[in-house]
Amino acid sequence: MMASPIRCLVSAGPTREFFDPVRFLSNPSSGKMGYSLARQAAAKGWEVELVSGPVSLPDPPGIVVTRVTTGEEMHAAIGERFDGCDVLIMTAAIMDYRPKVVADHKIKKFELEMVIEMEPVVDVLATMARRKTKQLIVGFAAETDHLEEHARQKLDYKKADFIVANRIGGEAGAFARDDNTVLVFSSSGSPPFRLGPAPKGVIAGQLIDLFALEMEKRTCAGVDRKGVGNGETT
Ligand code: CTP
Repeated sequence: MMASPIRCLVSAGPTREFFDPVRFLSNPSSGKMGYSLARQAAAKGWEVELVSGPVSLPDPPGIVVTRVTTGEEMHAAIGERFDGCDVLIMTAAIMDYRPKVVADHKIKKFELEMVIEMEPVVDVLATMARRKTKQLIVGFAAETDHLEEHARQKLDYKKADFIVANRIGGEAGAFARDDNTVLVFSSSGSPPFRLGPAPKGVIAGQLIDLFALEMEKRTCAGVDRKGVGNGETT
């Protein structure tokens, strides 16, 4: 019997949080890394769904794309699809805060100063990781400083299987560029390793190979568990 394809859910791009009908807070994420990962996963024969924030990239061929705008929409779209996936890859640069109040009219510039009160947006990755049954969970970490320390904290706090860390800001920052260098951290405790500098498409291919290997290990452990009745896969 043919094994069913691995079902992979990828999030990509930024989110937007509006404070009036024509203005929002966001970040410069281009979505390139997520779209590259989705393409590479599809090229491996995986069944891929992409949930994308607003980006100017076309839908990759053969991949179902759901477009969202806000963090809450991203949360809902990922939440609806999570139980049916085997691998979740969160590259989306989700805004951590959103304005508490969204004005229903364009805010006029009567005041010299403007203060926007913000409230947290749900952490989608951490929420899914706490709900996981069998899924391989991959997060990205975008850091301007203390890359290793922050990536390790995210691995731990978000309960991801892998955190792919890249530097943002400054000349070598990853946002909206074609090339990237990443450090990959694994919950298995093995030391982090570097990929790149290379085009995002190349790094995406290497990452998908790594996740495919991990899925293979899990499948083998699953066969072993059925046959011999030992341990658990994570
Ligand atoms: N993420 C998420 N939900 C959020 C914020 C981030 O699921 N509300 C995910 C991202 O998709 C990414 C990972 O968490 O896979 C880390 O995102 P990052 O922006 O680097 O970190 P934050 O959690 O936002 O933390 P900080 O802003 O303190 O660096």
